[in-house]
Amino acid sequence: MVRVFGSSAVPLTHQDIEVASLDSCLKLKEVKPEVIINCAAYHKTDECEDNPEKTFAVNTIGAFNVAKVASEIGALNVYISTDYVFDGKKEGPYYEDDQPNPINIYGVSKFAGEVVTKNYSGRYYIARVSSLFGVAGASGKGGNFVETMITKSSEVDKLKVVNDIVMSPTFTLDAAKKIKALVEMNATNGIYHLANEGACTWYDFACTIFEILDIDVEVEPISSKEFPSKAKRPENSSLASKNKLENRSWKEALEEYLQLKGHLK
Ligand SMILES: NC(=O)c1ccc[n+]([C@@H]2O[C@H](COP(=O)([O-])OP(=O)(O)OC[C@H]3O[C@@H](n4cnc5c(N)ncnc54)[C@H](OP(=O)(O)O)[C@@H]3O)[C@@H](O)[C@H]2O)c1
Repeated sequence: MVRVFGSSAVPLTHQDIEVASLDSCLKLKEVKPEVIINCAAYHKTDECEDNPEKTFAVNTIGAFNVAKVASEIGALNVYISTDYVFDGKKEGPYYEDDQPNPINIYGVSKFAGEVVTKNYSGRYYIARVSSLFGVAGASGKGGNFVETMITKSSEVDKLKVVNDIVMSPTFTLDAAKKIKALVEMNATNGIYHLANEGACTWYDFACTIFEILDIDVEVEPISSKEFPSKAKRPENSSLASKNKLENRSWKEALEEYLQLKGHLK
């Protein structure tokens, strides 16, 4: 986000702002922002099941605090949300007007975060992304799926990857550019799905990474039941959009990512 917005962006980290505290969020006023992009989240989906208080404190109360401050200073409030607001039972991709029905605590807290963003901000965008990969990597999760697959392929002869969960990979650079475009075109308040075009399983995603990089490793498709986890995950959380923003396929985006990271010469 900071790379795309350039010198007009004031990057604030967790050390600068604790979103769960309204007092701390008041510091946002000091930078007099025209736009606040709230990327803060507690997103370790399995941990969230055991820590609902922290999950709601960051993802929901945090969204409420930021929305209140944004509204007081007349700033546009952009809340980054997730495909996990959906239950995954739909056939085909989810659009902005599909009804959320989250099936894990993380998803519930993010959906509630969307509701407070909508009802307490003056101007707002809810920007839903999914299965992020980006040059910076997720600080909380450590890297991203693409890097994990590349590293693992040099450590083992055979990889097992889940093939019964469908999602839409999102290149962070593309999502950030779309947010910038929404801001610049002064788009109306609302929900925007910002995933790259198309959908795949984690197995398909892994195979495509290895195909592009010409990495020879055996990949075995497995069921998510082989990796039991605390939180339920939607079987299909692919996103598509009714917005008119330019979108490219996740494969094209992946190629650019691999080039930027120096994996593809
Ligand atoms: N990664 C994905 O695949 C994915 C999918 C869908 C949606 N999203 C959404 O995308 C957004 C960005 O997530 P990310 O995956 O890029 O993870 P990330 O790099 O870990 O970003 C989350 C940031 O929130 C900060 N943070 C955590 N608790 C906070 C608090 N109480 N107050 C202020 N800041 C706090 C973290 O700082 P510390 O690490 O220092 O605590 C971290 O810098 C989130 O809204 C997430 O829900 C991510």
